[in-house]
Amino acid sequence: MVVDFSLLLVLIVGTFSQTLSTNPGLKARITQTGLDYATKVALDSLSSKVVGLRIPDQHGKSGDVSYDVTNSRITGFQRPQSSITMNPPSGLRWTASGTVIALKGDWHYTLKKWFIRISDHGSFDVTVKGLSFDLGIKLGADKDGRPDISSSGCSCDIGSVDVKIHGKLDVIYNLFKGVIGKKIKDLLKDKMCDLIKDAINKDAENALQKIKVKTTIAKLFMLDYRMTSSPKFTPQYMETYHKGEVLWASSMTDAPIPVPPMPDNVGSQKMLYLFVSDYLFNSLSYQSQIHGVLRYNLTTKDLPPSNKGVLNTTCLSGVCIGELIPQIASKYPNKQVELRMMSTQTPMMTSLKNEVGVFCMGTIGMYATVPNKPSIYLVNLNVSMNATVNLSIMNEKLYAKIDQLIFNISAFNSAVGPISDRALQFVTRNAIRIFVEPALNKLGKNGFPLPTTGNVKFVNTELNLVRDTLIIATDVRYVSDTDTALKFVPRKRVYLEKT
Ligand SMILES: *[C@@H]1O[C@H](CO)[C@@H](O)[C@H](O)[C@H]1NC(C)=O
Ligand SMILES: *[C@@H]1O[C@H](CO)[C@@H](O)[C@H](O)[C@H]1NC(C)=O
Ligand SMILES: *[C@@H]1O[C@H](CO)[C@@H](O)[C@H](O)[C@H]1NC(C)=O
Ligand SMILES: *[C@@H]1O[C@H](CO)[C@@H](O)[C@H](O)[C@H]1NC(C)=O
Ligand SMILES: *[C@@H]1O[C@H](CO)[C@@H](O)[C@H](O)[C@H]1NC(C)=O
Ligand SMILES: *[C@@H]1O[C@H](CO)[C@@H](O)[C@H](O)[C@H]1NC(C)=O
Repeated sequence: MVVDFSLLLVLIVGTFSQTLSTNPGLKARITQTGLDYATKVALDSLSSKVVGLRIPDQHGKSGDVSYDVTNSRITGFQRPQSSITMNPPSGLRWTASGTVIALKGDWHYTLKKWFIRISDHGSFDVTVKGLSFDLGIKLGADKDGRPDISSSGCSCDIGSVDVKIHGKLDVIYNLFKGVIGKKIKDLLKDKMCDLIKDAINKDAENALQKIKVKTTIAKLFMLDYRMTSSPKFTPQYMETYHKGEVLWASSMTDAPIPVPPMPDNVGSQKMLYLFVSDYLFNSLSYQSQIHGVLRYNLTTKDLPPSNKGVLNTTCLSGVCIGELIPQIASKYPNKQVELRMMSTQTPMMTSLKNEVGVFCMGTIGMYATVPNKPSIYLVNLNVSMNATVNLSIMNEKLYAKIDQLIFNISAFNSAVGPISDRALQFVTRNAIRIFVEPALNKLGKNGFPLPTTGNVKFVNTELNLVRDTLIIATDVRYVSDTDTALKFVPRKRVYLEKT
């Protein structure tokens, strides 16, 4: 039973599993409302599983009597009044009272003394009423950044134990039921805290040790969400702090970018608040930049049918680049132009109030392609781009859609004479807008999975953008049948020049 609760804690604490600097890249706030829900889920699960539970057979000897208690099982369970509350500074407090558990089983005994041998067998009913406990739970972070859990004090009480014995001599046995009841009560009082503590210190701790604190994205990247410090507990909520950095999977070195501070005053109405720093996205963008992911050679084959001809040097039908840059048409007729796009600076994301801005800078090398020969250099373009992006959340995934794209484009090192502004706008409109923007939107539409466990579904989700941080405020629903492994659907590989 306690194991179910511990699994839940694993889910909560492990939903995310900070950085060299003092600020986390990812922060999770679980509120009292969230804990109340977790308690309800744990109790529902417990209530559905506890009836029918079998208790190990007991064989023993007491003085001259040897006995066996077999076939014991729980036949009734009345759920307790239970709550899990914040217990600052370092943990939670779990209390439960008013539990009623009914048991049934069989007994057998043999008394041997001198020449006397008496044996009998029968069945029994035991009802334990008013079972209550009060347990402290400490949560911390271990050296590997995994959450750790331990019990910190336990007290328990039992109201009464009623015993009914059925057997040949039940009239006599039932004379002793008070004594037997008291014996069971004492035994339970002694053992119950041990059982609960074991469930926390062993079962829950073991489960937490298996939590993943790193996950690969698109095979190339690694998202590190180790805990960087112990969780914080206040009367209204608890918070966990995680590194939240994206690293290059095959050579993991930290991105030399600062981690901005995260806001604190966002409320505690929802069950869960996830704070995602710009740092997470910018570390992804840094690794993409230095490992050459943000490069793309755009050719005719990348263009939609309606625009297939725009990179022709000779225009047969409609408008093409040859018309806008006549020098290309005259020097290199009947060829096609390739655009070698390359980001020259790490694209930076900034969360502003209500929108996300992305600033990119790069170059586009224009080349005339000649089959089976080296391409011919034409001109280089310097491009800077500002995008504003609308974000939304659905099904535990973050979706992005470009709202506005503003370019600044200029030519340099031209091998084909001066390039007109009209020509530059043509390239922007017909190549970048019809290729780069849809490609980015497609990526945004795939969604960026949030590292939640498969069992935790987001409902009533709100997305708030404050300076440098994306805040996801949500209630959750626990779905029990899927697996509890952290799910991360790989992202499409980004072969994109974001200029
Ligand atoms: C683009 O083409 C050039 C010349 O062929 C090549 O060196 C470069 O690797 C290509 N870039 C990408 C991203 O394919
Ligand atoms: C571009 O060139 C191809 C083949 O060279 C031709 O089929 C197509 O019509 C041309 N498009 C335009 C817009 O000139
Ligand atoms: C291209 O743009 C960058 C950044 O604005 C600038 O530093 C560089 O001088 C530009 N290059 C040319 C040749 O204009
Ligand atoms: C982005 O959000 C703004 C303001 O909410 C809205 O006016 C605009 O239409 C949205 N753009 C897209 C592409 O959804
Ligand atoms: C656009 O680029 C030109 C040349 O590099 C520069 O002088 C100008 O300030 C830029 N404009 C913006 C809005 O960035
Ligand atoms: C992009 O935004 C930055 C900062 O707001 C600004 O300095 C720059 O001129 C903008 N560039 C373009 C191309 O709009």
